[in-house]
Amino acid sequence: MQRKHFGIIGAGVGGLCTARHLLAAGFDVTIFEAGSTVGGLWVYNNDSGRSPAYRSLRINSEAKVTSFVDFPFRDDIPLYPGHEEMARYLRSYADRFDVYRHVRFRSEVTAVEPEGDGFRLTLRDGESFRFDGVVVATGHQSIPRHPPEIANFTGDYIHAHAYRVPEPYAGQRVLVIGPGNSGVDIASDICTVTDKTYLAARSPVLIMPRLMFGVPNSRVLGKIELPFLPWRARLWLRTMMTRIFHGTMESWGFRTPRTRTHAISHPTLISHIAWERIMAKPAIDRIDGRSVHFVDGSEEQIDAIIAATGYETDLPFLSEATSPMQGPKMMLYNRIVHPDYPGLYFVGYFDVTGGSNIRMMDEQAEYVAAVASGAIALPDPEGMKQAIEEDYAWQARQFPGSPRYALELDPVRYRKRLAADYARNGGRQRRTAPDQTTPAPPYAVPHS
Ligand SMILES: Cc1cc2nc3c(=O)[nH]c(=O)nc-3n(C[C@H](O)[C@H](O)[C@H](O)COP(=O)(O)OP(=O)(O)OC[C@H]3O[C@@H](n4cnc5c(N)ncnc54)[C@H](O)[C@@H]3O)c2cc1C
Ligand SMILES: NC(=O)c1ccc[n+]([C@@H]2O[C@H](COP(=O)([O-])OP(=O)(O)OC[C@H]3O[C@@H](n4cnc5c(N)ncnc54)[C@H](OP(=O)(O)O)[C@@H]3O)[C@@H](O)[C@H]2O)c1
Repeated sequence: MQRKHFGIIGAGVGGLCTARHLLAAGFDVTIFEAGSTVGGLWVYNNDSGRSPAYRSLRINSEAKVTSFVDFPFRDDIPLYPGHEEMARYLRSYADRFDVYRHVRFRSEVTAVEPEGDGFRLTLRDGESFRFDGVVVATGHQSIPRHPPEIANFTGDYIHAHAYRVPEPYAGQRVLVIGPGNSGVDIASDICTVTDKTYLAARSPVLIMPRLMFGVPNSRVLGKIELPFLPWRARLWLRTMMTRIFHGTMESWGFRTPRTRTHAISHPTLISHIAWERIMAKPAIDRIDGRSVHFVDGSEEQIDAIIAATGYETDLPFLSEATSPMQGPKMMLYNRIVHPDYPGLYFVGYFDVTGGSNIRMMDEQAEYVAAVASGAIALPDPEGMKQAIEEDYAWQARQFPGSPRYALELDPVRYRKRLAADYARNGGRQRRTAPDQTTPAPPYAVPHS
């Protein structure tokens, strides 16, 4: 019998680990990548035009917990490697698992349509291919979400996606909108060269220290945030730990969150505020020309705005029928499986509140291979849709309503759900469970 062949869209983390698991399960794969290299957003100035990486970008999840579980970083890696090291790591991963020869570079997918019991995938140049299944792994951090407030701004404006280096902002008065991980990184990056840097936060935010007692915060939080603790107890612990190192958020011009939030941490932001290199501001009330008015009544003259206001998900190669998007939500069973199109999978369309997205994508990829090979039998479409509704109802009770949280995942709960599907189908252990690991030799392949 002919081996099933999967088309994978994207050679970032999601596409690479999906290829690895599908190959290991005995399938053929072809990865289509718009750019000319693997690594996706970790490739600085990626010629795909989709990477938001700036020169100073480093991972914010500690290397040890960020790597694929059976493909550790080299021993001499820093605690938080930069984008160059990450790109090198991903190239080595592709080499180690023999993924390269399955990648077609400079091949942008423009359409995926159901065809018989499979799919037809078409490229921008018109070439098309039939596959038994398709895995979409195009990432969700390449289409900027612009703040409506900037419509009346007459100074320079970019979204964080286009930010690379601080030098163009030397001597300027710059407003960074949004204290997410992009905003705190960029404000800290530019503040030593600007005349003034402002950071506007419309919602409460907890900016944790990156290191606690000289070690990554995840090691300390991992010891005290026991898995059974409800999120309110976890938030309280995080707030208290942050208070030990930073004092209250209010003392730096922010508001302490009372709801679940996406974890933010930074090694220098609060020190920059203490040194008056960065000034915290509340939400923008209105903008007239270069005058920015804030809701506390203050007004600043601003030369340039950098909107670090997050990203939209966009799947332009899917039709209204095949797209799982409902507003900013992805209506997918376990955030992976399209309930109406067997064989159409999605990897990487989530954000985890703590832990590493990269490691979680590996678990999703392994789940795809398990479903594709029949090791996991899915519920019927109605059962899947019901589970999706329940998932989003739970999410609405847990997280604030901002679009930022549409793809948020609770890693503990999510892993339990994946594990339950394996268990229902015969108790197969996940390969990525830490006690099942057979570490590969640390990577050392010098790709340029
Ligand atoms: C600035 C930033 C920092 C982050 N830091 C961390 C971190 O520290 N730790 C962590 O775990 N996670 C982090 N993340 C989360 C991030 O999602 C992951 O690290 C991960 O690398 C994303 O991988 P991906 O494969 O989903 O997407 P991407 O890396 O974006 O890869 C998608 C690939 O698909 C290709 N593509 C897109 N459309 C098409 C098409 N139509 N046809 C063909 N190819 C296409 C793109 O060219 C790209 O190569 C960060 C995210 C951002 C934005
Ligand atoms: N060093 C790193 O590893 C690193 C660096 C950058 C990004 N990342 C990751 O990349 C992903 C994207 O991060 P991100 O920071 O780019 O986006 P994000 O997490 O979506 O944060 C966007 C921020 O902008 C605010 N915002 C949105 N629209 C606004 C508006 N109109 N006015 C004012 N504020 C507005 C949001 O506030 P609300 O809460 O009110 O919506 C939020 O604070 C995350 O997973 C993040 O962890 C990691």
